[in-house]
Amino acid sequence: METQAMQVAIIGTGYVGLTTGVCLAHLGAHVICCDVDERKVTLLKNGVVPIVEDGLAEVMQGAIDAGRLSFVVGNDPAVRTADVVFLCVPTPQDEDGSADLSYVRAAATEIGPILKPGAVVVNKSTVPVGSFGVVGETLDRDDVSVVSNPEFLREGTALHDFLNPDRVVIGSDDERAAQMVAALYAGLDTQFVFTDPTSAELIKYAANGFLAMKISFINSVAALCEHVGADIARVVEGIGSDRRIGSQFLQPGPGWGGSCFPKDSRALVSTAAQHGYDFSLMRGVIDINEQQYDRMVHKVMAAVGRDVSLDGVVVGALGLTFKAGTDDLRESPGLRVIDVLRARGATIQAYDPTTTGELNPIQRERLAGLNLKAGALDAAHGADVVVILTEWPEFTTLDLEKVASVMRGAAVVDCRNLLDGDLVRSAGLGYQGVGRS
Ligand code: UDX
Ligand code: UDX
Repeated sequence: METQAMQVAIIGTGYVGLTTGVCLAHLGAHVICCDVDERKVTLLKNGVVPIVEDGLAEVMQGAIDAGRLSFVVGNDPAVRTADVVFLCVPTPQDEDGSADLSYVRAAATEIGPILKPGAVVVNKSTVPVGSFGVVGETLDRDDVSVVSNPEFLREGTALHDFLNPDRVVIGSDDERAAQMVAALYAGLDTQFVFTDPTSAELIKYAANGFLAMKISFINSVAALCEHVGADIARVVEGIGSDRRIGSQFLQPGPGWGGSCFPKDSRALVSTAAQHGYDFSLMRGVIDINEQQYDRMVHKVMAAVGRDVSLDGVVVGALGLTFKAGTDDLRESPGLRVIDVLRARGATIQAYDPTTTGELNPIQRERLAGLNLKAGALDAAHGADVVVILTEWPEFTTLDLEKVASVMRGAAVVDCRNLLDGDLVRSAGLGYQGVGRS
C-alpha cells in the first residue's frame, strides 16, 4: 500500500504519540491523533504543541495545513477507518518494577470490536516482552494483525530522531502487516530490522539498558577519576574515539533519569527475574545510578562544609528537568538530588527555563515547596551554593562575576560539567565538577 493512501490512527498523543503522528503525516499518511485529554486536544487543534519539543510545532502546522493531520477526543470513530492503529498510551511502572499494561489493555479492549477487517495494530508504547500476545488476545480478532514497532526518540530531539533514525525495527509474524508498517516509513533513508515480535520488544529494552549502562559506567569512571586525579573529559575523549566504544552517551552527570531509562532498566531486571534469570549486570547499573544521586548530594554537603544537616543552607538550583531541551520532570535526577537536600534541611531556590510561566498540573505537584525563580541570577541570589543540575545551554553564558556578587556563599557544584572550572574559580568561586581533576 502507498504511504499516501494510508489511514493512520494514533491512540495517546503524548511525547511519543504526538511525534509519531506528526511525522507520519509529514511523510504522507493521513493521520488522526486521538487522546482522552480534552484540554490537550483543544490545544493541538489550535496548532499549539503542549510539550517542549524542538521544531515539532512547525512540522505539525505543515501537516495540518496539508489536510493530513487532525486531532480528536476519544478513539471512536477514528479507528474504524484506520489501516494502521498505533498504541502510544502510557505504560507506567508497577510497584514491583514491572510495566503496568492496563492502559494498553483498555485501549485494545475498546478498539477490538470496531477495527476494520485487515487492520494492523502497532505497539509503539514500550511494553514488556510478550505483550504482543496480550494485545492480540485482548483485540480478539482473527482478521487483525499486531506489530511491534518500538520508538527510539529522545525527548528534545524527537523530531530529528524520527526523521533520521539509525534503524526502524518491525516485529511481526505477518509479512503483509510488517510491510504495511514499513511503507509508512518509506520516505526515510534508513535500514529496516524485520524480526519476530518478541525480539522487537526486547530490542527496545536492550537498547535503553545498554545506553543506561554506558552512562553508569562513565559515572563510575568519573568517580575513579576523582580518586586517582585523572580528568574524565580526557578519558571520554580517549575511549570514545575508539569506534568500538563510540563517544555518545558517555557524558558524566548527576545520574540518568527521564520517562524511559529508569522504567525500562527496572523492567529488564523484572522480566529476567520472571523468566528465572538474574540480570545482575542491569541491577548493578541501576545501583550505580542511585549512588550517583547520593554522590551529588555529598558534593553539595562538602561544598558548604556540612556533614549531616543542611539546616539554614540556601541552595540555588539551576535546572529541574531530567535533561536539557525538554519540559519533562519525570524521574529527573536533579529533582532526586533536590529532594534529599530538602530532606536534610536546605532551602531551595530553583530556576529552570521551562518553569517560569504558568505551571501545568504535573509541574505544580512535583515542584511544590520549591521557591521557583524567574532567572538563574535570582536563584543564585543569597545562595550558599549554586548547583547546576540540567545542561541548559544558557547556563554556559552565566555572568560568573555577577553570580559571585549576589551569592551569600561562594561554591558552585556543576553536576553536568558545563562550566569551565578555571573561569569559575577566577570569579572568586569554589568549583566542583564530576570526575574533573
Ligand atoms: C508513553 C509511555 O510512557 C511509554 O512507555 C511509551 O513508550 C509511549 O507512551 P509518553 O508519550 O511519554 O510515553 O506518555 P505521555 O506523555 O504520558 O502520553 C500518553 C498520552 O496518552 C496522554 O496524552 C494521555 O492523555 C493519553 N491517553 C492515555 C489516552 O489517550 N488514552 C488512554 O487510555 C490513556
Ligand atoms: C531515551 C532513549 O535515548 C530514546 O531512544 C527513547 O527510547 C526514549 O528514552 P530520553 O529519555 O528522551 O530518551 O533521554 P536521553 O537523551 O536518552 O537521556 C536519558 C538520561 O540520561 C537523561 O537523564 C540524560 O541527562 C542522561 N544522560 C544521557 C547522561 O547522563 N549522559 C549522557 O551521555 C547521555
